[in-house]
Amino acid sequence: MLAKALITLTLAALSTAHAVIKTPTPRTAGPTHTSLCGSPVASKLASDPAGPIESAVAKADASYKCDAYLCRGYQWGDNTGRAQSYVAGQVVPFYVDLVAAHKPGWANVSVIDLQTNKAVGTPLKTWSVWPDDVSGGGDDVDFNVTIPGTLGSACNVGGKCALQWYWWSSSNKQTYEGCVDFYVK
Ligand SMILES: *[C@@H]1O[C@H](CO)[C@@H](O)[C@H](O)[C@H]1NC(C)=O
Ligand SMILES: *[C@@H]1O[C@H](CO)[C@@H](O)[C@H](O)[C@H]1NC(C)=O
Repeated sequence: MLAKALITLTLAALSTAHAVIKTPTPRTAGPTHTSLCGSPVASKLASDPAGPIESAVAKADASYKCDAYLCRGYQWGDNTGRAQSYVAGQVVPFYVDLVAAHKPGWANVSVIDLQTNKAVGTPLKTWSVWPDDVSGGGDDVDFNVTIPGTLGSACNVGGKCALQWYWWSSSNKQTYEGCVDFYVK
């Protein structure tokens, strides 16, 4: 029985990895998200906040009108009270809850223009292997990014930009993402 339970657990771990941003406070679900992404996709995302986007998009029906690959489809309208206020040069600590690792994969954190879904400048941080395999622990789940001094007016109010953490788990072809809304004073 124990052996069977272990096999089941191992298979579950093989098929899906899981991870989610815990710090800073990430963008989350709400009524605007449900109405734009449709109930089937929103329910799937809600059932597993650390789960892959592909599993949710697989549920899409005619009511799917968001881009789940941008901040899991979570909407600024549901998150206006959550924007972080930063200054250029500020060091921002992140913590990612790695629920289930699946290697190999790679990850990055970028400033994203939320209107165009394009990165502003180069990524603030990239990992060529994520989760990393540094003995004694690397900086894959606990890390810092520095707010660039070059954003100008691009991110001067909430809703324009997010810090997007993006993990592509290549062996199972799954995407994990989260966004932190912010503006630079
Ligand atoms: C971040 O990583 C993803 C997955 O590998 C990749 O598609 C994306 O282009 C990267 N972003 C940037 C800004 O390099
Ligand atoms: C993040 O930066 C803080 C202070 O700037 C430092 O104490 C901490 O060790 C850094 N964390 C990592 C994972 O580098």
